[in-house]
Amino acid sequence: EKGGYDYFMLKEIAEQPTAVADTLLGKFQDGRIVLDEQRISDQELRDVDKVFIIACGSAYHSGLVAKYAIEHWTRLPCEVEIASEFRYRDPVLDRSTLVVAISQSGETADTLEAVRHAKDQKARVLAVCNTNGSQIPREADAVLYTHAGPEIGVASTKAYLAQITANYLVGLALAQARGTKFPDEVAAEFRQLERMPEAIQKVVDSLEPVREIARELADSKSVLFLGRHVGYPTALEGALKLKELAYMHAEGFPAGELKHGPIALIEEGLPVFVVMPPVEGRGVLHSKLVSNIQEIKARGARTIVIAEEGDEVVKPLSDYFIPIPASTTLLQPLLATIPYQAFAAEVAAARGYDVDKPRNLAKSVTVE
Ligand code: F6R
Repeated sequence: EKGGYDYFMLKEIAEQPTAVADTLLGKFQDGRIVLDEQRISDQELRDVDKVFIIACGSAYHSGLVAKYAIEHWTRLPCEVEIASEFRYRDPVLDRSTLVVAISQSGETADTLEAVRHAKDQKARVLAVCNTNGSQIPREADAVLYTHAGPEIGVASTKAYLAQITANYLVGLALAQARGTKFPDEVAAEFRQLERMPEAIQKVVDSLEPVREIARELADSKSVLFLGRHVGYPTALEGALKLKELAYMHAEGFPAGELKHGPIALIEEGLPVFVVMPPVEGRGVLHSKLVSNIQEIKARGARTIVIAEEGDEVVKPLSDYFIPIPASTTLLQPLLATIPYQAFAAEVAAARGYDVDKPRNLAKSVTVE
């Protein structure tokens, strides 16, 4: 049933082109993005004046990616918050707030309670969920299903990419409802998304060098992950994967924060992963990251750089260079996350740990 793979996680990493393609299937009809269930009116969707994204763990990271797309496309303010924080404070919500709850299982206790809290405040709730008939979509006003299929590995992989994909669709649906994007612009963005599974397949097919790097670095005490813009949530996801699977200390942070503290951690031989923004966006983001890499290299770190295959500028600064296909900046997490998944799985395997069932973790966290 593992289809020839040693672990479900590896099979699920390989299933990501399909997970993303299936999540997009049928979502663009008659020139419009359509949700799966919509128990709120188009008018209510148009009247939204603020978006709150709530989730836990990897789902939260997918929400962080969504913030960049939603604010850019809709010009609506968008906050992203961990569900267990959101529910125990006093967030400002009203009937024109859209709360997007992201959950693979649809049963995560903190996310469910955060949804109830939002509904008590009269906010509208849209669920992004991978499990039909689960509790969170049942209580939501609108639902967009991810179609990753059942995920067996405890660490989220294909469900995570599917969440990111669905979140882009939420952004486009809102932009369409509010008219901040013309119909042909929405169509063009959707077509960009439809091209991603092919690029994802290319990344999936070229993970062997990443596994080699993982075996080389499997004895590290600590690994850092840096990124800017959507590369920042990708850094957080890379660090989380490594913590949960390889039980290795790992931290992700925005590259611009380096000099505000984390640079003190850099020492000889410390592995530091960096995601470079696509060449398309080369300009400020790209050059800032190049200087960040120079700073950490000068202090003896080992740099592992994920960048577009044609990125000649950064190659000489990379101890290890992991090429990925070209994409737009906003969509890049669909590609850049994959080497991090493979890296964490391989480090875990090299250390003799159970890749599919990391210690202390459950697939669905239905207790608080
Ligand atoms: C990490 C992971 C967890 C989940 C989190 C939320 O690999 O799988 O961090 O993302 O527990 O779960 P759902 O999406 O089911 O609410």
